[in-house]
Amino acid sequence: MEDEEESWHGKKEFWQDFSFGEELMEKAPEEVEKIIELADLKKGMKLLDLCCGVGRHSLEFAKKDFEVTGVDITRDYLEKANKRAENENIDIEFLREDMRDFRREEEYDAVVNLFSSFGYFKKEEDNIQVLENVFDSLKPEGKFVMDVKGKEIIARIFQERDWYETENGYVLEERKVENDWNYLKTRRIKIMDGEVREHEFGHWLYTAKELKDMIEDVGFDEVDVYSSYDGEYYDREAERLVAVAKKF
Ligand SMILES: C[S@@+](CC[C@H](N)C(=O)[O-])C[C@H]1O[C@@H](n2cnc3c(N)ncnc32)[C@H](O)[C@@H]1O
Repeated sequence: MEDEEESWHGKKEFWQDFSFGEELMEKAPEEVEKIIELADLKKGMKLLDLCCGVGRHSLEFAKKDFEVTGVDITRDYLEKANKRAENENIDIEFLREDMRDFRREEEYDAVVNLFSSFGYFKKEEDNIQVLENVFDSLKPEGKFVMDVKGKEIIARIFQERDWYETENGYVLEERKVENDWNYLKTRRIKIMDGEVREHEFGHWLYTAKELKDMIEDVGFDEVDVYSSYDGEYYDREAERLVAVAKKF
């Protein structure tokens, strides 16, 4: 596996410096309940949490009697995920794998890819490969749930420069839209505990139509999009783009 410290622009990616703060962790139980309802998932199902991070959703699905595999590339996150599962005495298979490679033929009833964990690869074929892996890893009738920030939303709220305060300091961001409005590049400067750290990262942007087409193109027959896990319409007030797809 390619070392995760390497990236196409030679700097760390944003997800290697991601902080799973308390607020995010606390949202997971409710999010999982809503995802179960939205995608009509059932207890006992085999579920893959692709790009599981520290396992905040994996743990909640497992608590609801799903048989969970969590896949992520970041060792440190997986250690945290394993520790949490151990502490809570929950049985989850956590694997360190690249989403471009991980595939288990017709193994899962459901695959989730949550909180902007898609569109990371500079080569679009790699992002498509991820969707192909998801499709192949699902059993017939299997469901796929993905949650990203849609291009329409980014266009609506776009700010070239921005800063915000976190629990440990300040974050400054500078953004650029590239590739005919298909790619967002961000330069992030963190000022925390007296230290200044800089990261540059980029990811692809998708409109609802583009994402639906991409998901359909790998074989899914039915793809619906929503603005949240509540199942509201994807309209001009949307804050997320949630896609729910079914394999027939
Ligand atoms: C924004 S985080 C979301 C994590 C998790 N889904 C959540 O909601 O807490 C994106 C995750 O994608 C993982 N990731 C990035 N590139 C990956 C790759 N090539 N293969 C597998 N995981 C990857 C990162 O390590 C990170 O945990």
